[in-house]
Amino acid sequence: MTNIAAILLLIVSLLLPVSGYADDKHKPEEKKPIEASQGKTIYDSWCAQCHGYKGDADAYTKDVTLPLPRDFAFGVYKFRSSAPGEPPTDADLTRIIRKGNPGTSMPPWERFSDDEVKAIVQHVKTFAPDVFSSEAKSIKLDNPPKSTPESIAKGKELFNMAKCVECHGKEGRGDGEKGWQADFKTDWGYRVAPANYTQGWELRNGSDLVDIYRTISAGLAGTPMTSYLDSLKDDERWSLAHFIKSLQLTRKLGVALKVKKVESLPVGTDDAKWKDVEYLDLPIGGQLMFEPRNFTSVITNARVRGVYTPKEIAIMLEWTDKQPSKGADNIPQDSARIQFPVKLVDGAERPYFYMGSRKAPANLWQWKASDDNKVVELIAKGFDLVESKEKTDISAVGTYTDGLYRVVFKRALNTGQEGSPAFMVGKFIPFSVTLFDGNNAEDGNKSAISAWYFLMMEPPTPIKVYVMPPIAAILVFALGLVMANNTKKTRDQRKKKK
Ligand code: HEC
Ligand code: HEC
Repeated sequence: MTNIAAILLLIVSLLLPVSGYADDKHKPEEKKPIEASQGKTIYDSWCAQCHGYKGDADAYTKDVTLPLPRDFAFGVYKFRSSAPGEPPTDADLTRIIRKGNPGTSMPPWERFSDDEVKAIVQHVKTFAPDVFSSEAKSIKLDNPPKSTPESIAKGKELFNMAKCVECHGKEGRGDGEKGWQADFKTDWGYRVAPANYTQGWELRNGSDLVDIYRTISAGLAGTPMTSYLDSLKDDERWSLAHFIKSLQLTRKLGVALKVKKVESLPVGTDDAKWKDVEYLDLPIGGQLMFEPRNFTSVITNARVRGVYTPKEIAIMLEWTDKQPSKGADNIPQDSARIQFPVKLVDGAERPYFYMGSRKAPANLWQWKASDDNKVVELIAKGFDLVESKEKTDISAVGTYTDGLYRVVFKRALNTGQEGSPAFMVGKFIPFSVTLFDGNNAEDGNKSAISAWYFLMMEPPTPIKVYVMPPIAAILVFALGLVMANNTKKTRDQRKKKK
């Protein structure tokens, strides 16, 4: 019986590649159908450097990147749509290969054809033949109920009742206390942190509603994130997904931050005035130019806002951190830094992006998490020549609530001090941000940094701006009419020619 099954299987597998291309329309023109064995060739060139030639991820030593590349031979698959204990489906493997795992070193792969991905999937499965001896079935993922204020509210209730909050934290920023116990590890033996729902771009299994539902239903095998397939009903899991989706921030990316003029500066980080101030999100990544490099960086975003009066400027930085540190027991304190060029010159010229250079030094404002809101002002002439100024006019206050740091820096527009740039209204002023997560051993050059951006203190609104929009609108409308008319004409002409 088993022999017959094996023979049948062999025949079927021999037939598959042929029958797979019976439909000529879908046949790739330039390429021949790919055999499953060709998956190995592609895998060896594109995947093995991380996942290992034998699929055991031996290429990597610990602490190079976190999470480590998957050890396929271990046979535990995190990203599945199948019930717990079952292997991932081919569609699961295909999805991860195509989309990657955001926030990790697993990139999305677009360069391969569908047939090539099929072949890679077959090859990956050979690393754990026992696991894939049975075929997995996807749980039902379609027909999501509509998201309503009620379903979101119900999701929020379940979030507390089902104790998601213990790991994911009150506001879903991944700062729940349970996540910081020493034994909070994966089956592969490395530390892992609960996900921060607010930063959808970090969600490894994807941030769409169906992705979140899949995560809650199937769990992430090998991690403390278990499956809720049996303990929560279908509609409850959808409500939770609606709630989590509702927490996701909209990132506002760009090159320049508008700094608005106000009557008086906000007091501290909680001042309601900040709510109306426009923000800019800066992508943040590990510093990799100088030793010690930060390959395991965890901070991915800094949100910046600014306001000014005729005398002073206030800049607020906001970022998430799952566990705060004021520094103790060899754990450095969390810290934030804003960098400016010492000399503000017209044009786009800026000092070297990391700590300036001998020729073009940088001025840095640094706040350190502490009870007394310690601030230092640094002058850097390169990463290896950094001095802190004896006297500084900068002040800062910082708060940490539910996984969110907010720090407000204040300074006079012009301090008259050497090494401190004087800010002028209407100019593009280069700035960048450096953040340190103490619990990730970030200190000194081991930091998380942004590129250069600009801030611009907006001149008080001239009357022209109020008059312009209606005029501009009329002009645009008129132009639209002319263009529509022209296209119609050419269309008519073309018709005539025919
Ligand atoms: C630069 C390193 C790197 C390369 C190259 C890479 N991966 Fe990955 N891959 C990772 C990491 C890291 C993870 C784990 C992500 C996690 O655990 O959240 C991963 C996860 C995966 C998973 C998910 C496994 C699971 O548990 O569900 C699959 C499948 C996968 N990789 C396949 C591939 C294939 C196929 C290639 C080549 C086309 C490839 N990877 C190339 C780093 C890499
Ligand atoms: C025991 C701690 C713990 C509990 C309880 C828990 N989670 Fe998680 N959760 C985690 C961890 C850890 C991760 C990240 C795993 C990883 O990235 O490897 C995670 C990740 C997630 C993710 C994101 C996965 C991704 O794509 O990156 C979602 C969504 C999620 N959990 C939802 C929930 C919901 C909803 C509940 C409650 C029903 C819940 N979790 C309960 C620990 C927990």
